[in-house]
Amino acid sequence: MMSYETILTSTDGRVGVITLNRPKALNALNDQLMDELGAALLSFDADNNISCIVITGSEKAFAAGADIGMMSKYNFTDVYKSDYITKNWETIRKIRKPVIAAVAGYALGGGCELAMMCDFIIAADNAKFGQPEIKLGIIPGAGGSQRLPRAVSKSKAMDMCLTARMMDANEAERAGLVSRVVAADKLLEETMAAAKIIGEMSLPIVMMVKESINASFESSLSEGIHFERRLFHSTFATEDQKEGMAAFVEKRPAKFKHQ
Ligand code: CAA
Repeated sequence: MMSYETILTSTDGRVGVITLNRPKALNALNDQLMDELGAALLSFDADNNISCIVITGSEKAFAAGADIGMMSKYNFTDVYKSDYITKNWETIRKIRKPVIAAVAGYALGGGCELAMMCDFIIAADNAKFGQPEIKLGIIPGAGGSQRLPRAVSKSKAMDMCLTARMMDANEAERAGLVSRVVAADKLLEETMAAAKIIGEMSLPIVMMVKESINASFESSLSEGIHFERRLFHSTFATEDQKEGMAAFVEKRPAKFKHQ
């Protein structure tokens, strides 16, 4: 496994875990961290023994946003020429296996955007989500103004991006931003349990579920339903569909081969 300086990686069964690890800066997302995160994600995505990826931070912060110290030195042409944000932040969109964000503490600015790039978010009860960029004289730059309204409604997205107020875990769950809230000291345990359940499913089918749900954000309803139908039909070409249905009929647990 590669060695990184700003993240930690580990595996547990079919789950790959990436822990953001710049504790002194509350996991602020600098270029090095985003490059290392991208490399770790691509490596888990290419690993046949991994079915699901978890991204987490510390108890105090998932990530407190893009690194303001780094950004404060940039002018327009610096960010424009270097393609700042889009260059190395969008790797996560290319990942075909499910990515779960396990969020405790602050998920602010780019930290909230990173969590929203994941396929779902499990929040500790101390999690706080926000898009406070406006206080710095900028707007969200890694999808916050696009993904937040899709996740929590226009009204709450406008409120958060315009006033910079934070949403706590319970409000985030009510608004649909996170899938579940768990006790802070159980965050990793509960997230790993969910990731391991996914790891027991057929990997190609898991990937098709992700592909199909994501298609719903990029298409009309009838196009999306057509896409789902084609994928659904293609599941019958897998060995795992035969195994899953045989196991049900024979009243035994399925043993998927990820084929
Ligand atoms: N970038 C760089 N360093 C950061 C940081 C960030 N986003 N957030 C926190 N840190 C650093 C602090 O500078 C501090 O370092 P020092 O000890 O060297 O001074 C350390 O982390 C601890 O932070 P605080 O002392 O501020 O901790 P706190 O508990 O008092 O406050 C906080 C926590 C409310 C999260 C506060 O740190 C904060 O407001 N951080 C900035 C949040 C923010 O504005 N994020 C948006 C960034 S812009 C963006 O993300 C653009 C985009 O869309 C991609």
